[in-house]
Amino acid sequence: MCGIIGYIGSKNATPIVLEGLKKLEYRGYDSAGIASIDKDKMSILKCKGRIRELSNLVKKEHLTGSVGLGHTRWATHGEPSERNAHPHVSCSGKVAVVHNGIIENYASLRTLLEDEGHKFSSDTDTEIFAHLVEKFYHGNLLKAVHEALALVEGAYAFAVMCEDEPDKIVAARFGSPLVIGIGKKGEYLIASDPIAIVAHTRQVIYLADNEVVMLQTSGYRVTDRDNVEVEKEVENITWSLDKISKDGFSHYMLKEIFEQPQTIYDAMRGRLSKEKNDIRLGGLESHLKWLNKGEKKTTGLDALIKAKRIVIIACGTSWHAGLIGEYMFENVLHIPVEVEYASEARYRNFIVDKDTTVIAISQSGETADTLAAIKEAKTRGAITLGFVNTVGSSIARETHAGVYLHAGSEIGVASTKTFTSQVCILALITLLIGKKKRIIDDKRVNTITEALFNIPQQVEKILKKTNDIREIAKRYMDFNNFLYLGRGYNFPIALEGALKLKEISYIHAEGYPAAEMKHGPIALIDKNMPVVFIATDTEDQIYQKIISNIQEVKSREGQVIAIASEGNELIEKVSDAVITVPKTEDFLTPLLTVTPLQLFAYHMALLKGHDVDKPRNLAKSVTVE
Ligand code: AGP
Ligand code: GLU
Repeated sequence: MCGIIGYIGSKNATPIVLEGLKKLEYRGYDSAGIASIDKDKMSILKCKGRIRELSNLVKKEHLTGSVGLGHTRWATHGEPSERNAHPHVSCSGKVAVVHNGIIENYASLRTLLEDEGHKFSSDTDTEIFAHLVEKFYHGNLLKAVHEALALVEGAYAFAVMCEDEPDKIVAARFGSPLVIGIGKKGEYLIASDPIAIVAHTRQVIYLADNEVVMLQTSGYRVTDRDNVEVEKEVENITWSLDKISKDGFSHYMLKEIFEQPQTIYDAMRGRLSKEKNDIRLGGLESHLKWLNKGEKKTTGLDALIKAKRIVIIACGTSWHAGLIGEYMFENVLHIPVEVEYASEARYRNFIVDKDTTVIAISQSGETADTLAAIKEAKTRGAITLGFVNTVGSSIARETHAGVYLHAGSEIGVASTKTFTSQVCILALITLLIGKKKRIIDDKRVNTITEALFNIPQQVEKILKKTNDIREIAKRYMDFNNFLYLGRGYNFPIALEGALKLKEISYIHAEGYPAAEMKHGPIALIDKNMPVVFIATDTEDQIYQKIISNIQEVKSREGQVIAIASEGNELIEKVSDAVITVPKTEDFLTPLLTVTPLQLFAYHMALLKGHDVDKPRNLAKSVTVE
């Protein structure tokens, strides 16, 4: 959460910083600010609201400095307001700081600084750092930052400027992402995400935890916490910015929903081969690696095949994908799986040992809890794998091996296309292990491969129903509560459908396993409670049971919206609204049933006049606990 950008070079920093902030707005959007140093004088502009408000403010002023920092905020400490917006400055106004993260010991540090006479002008934890740098500043900004960092506990990405050393930006990272961009002719950038700087350079360096960088037009220098210089690898960004546009769609979310036929295909492309009856996942090639506990073990696919137990760690939508993974691995591969909320796992004695393989699932690859849980699992001797969308992200780097989703940038705060890519990767792995362990015979591998390759066009067919789904949304837009019910592979889809509705339409919705309804939620059913049933035909008896659950709702005057299989006339008769999806293998059904629910939430939010891409209180990348 929060987006940071900094520029130092020969051009005017302000337009570059503002442009970068617009690209980072998905990370937070409740207030924003910019600092620039011109002729040894620091200017700061900040405001509540979006980057467009900041741009309006900038138009009235004349910021011409060639060193600048910008920030777009997602408040943790202190309400969204102008005074709490970053950059924050020290008492003298000479030190400016932008921050992503939380300083956990801020209260004691604030007391200490106030006792020493420092005057605070915001409610944030961040401001502490500006005063700490000021306290330690005796003509050497880098040294002062190092000394200030030694007192700070928590997670951070900081970028600091000082009026007395106007030719420098010093930045540091622990737990929140930072990437350095090496531009042309003495031009350097720093940002929370390469997306903000790729228009200026493709040459980047990913800062690691505990590293500090000093940028000057004459060069950059990365040091560790003890101020010892660190050699860093310069990497090349291969993706391009043209991919990050709305492509004529009214919202990123809608574009991303409609991209799914392609992104699902991209998750399989070059990995699944019909002709060779083969599956290859390059990132899961097994390698011998030294683990923290001093022993050598094979990572990658081998770690999955040999695992006595698999633990999947994730948050939010990625956690729902993990749950589908549990059903796949247990049903098809008979491997015991547990799916853990990263935030819970990391703080309890979660039982992970050298016979456990831990999978982290994450779109951003930066989710603080997931990253911390992975680190914890590593210290306990587990092999860790990352199924991540963002190339080069912290989770991708921290895990021993992994698979990229290849879904392209997801800008809409509500995850859509990356969810289906995650499910697709889990299906590929199920197939691969099933094949290797000879649980799935060649004939079956062929049938499943065929079914997987059919998914993109089946999703295409569902997307054509967007207007029908909009009509259903219109009928139900005034209801305040929804229940989502599903069983088996569609239970996680019930959770995901409910989460989408909550996130963007601000309507209360709960997801439950359909049979659990009788154990409590049924008390809520009356004519004012629409129930969304995900009730596709299945090969087992689950389908019959869910029909009984629908009858139970109807007998209590509940309204039923059903996601059903094409050609199922019975469900049409017992439901008030039906959206059909094509038939596929049971374990691939979630790839189809989630799409109508994404569209339902989208239309609902739009009809209610909400900001679909930037829902209130949320941010795309949750880099704080
Ligand atoms: C999804 O719509 C949410 N915005 C959120 O639950 C998200 O899935 C969660 O924060 C995890 O993010 P990650 O996949 O980037 O780790
Ligand atoms: N804690 C800081 C604030 O509230 C930064 C928040 C963040 O990175 O999400 O301003």
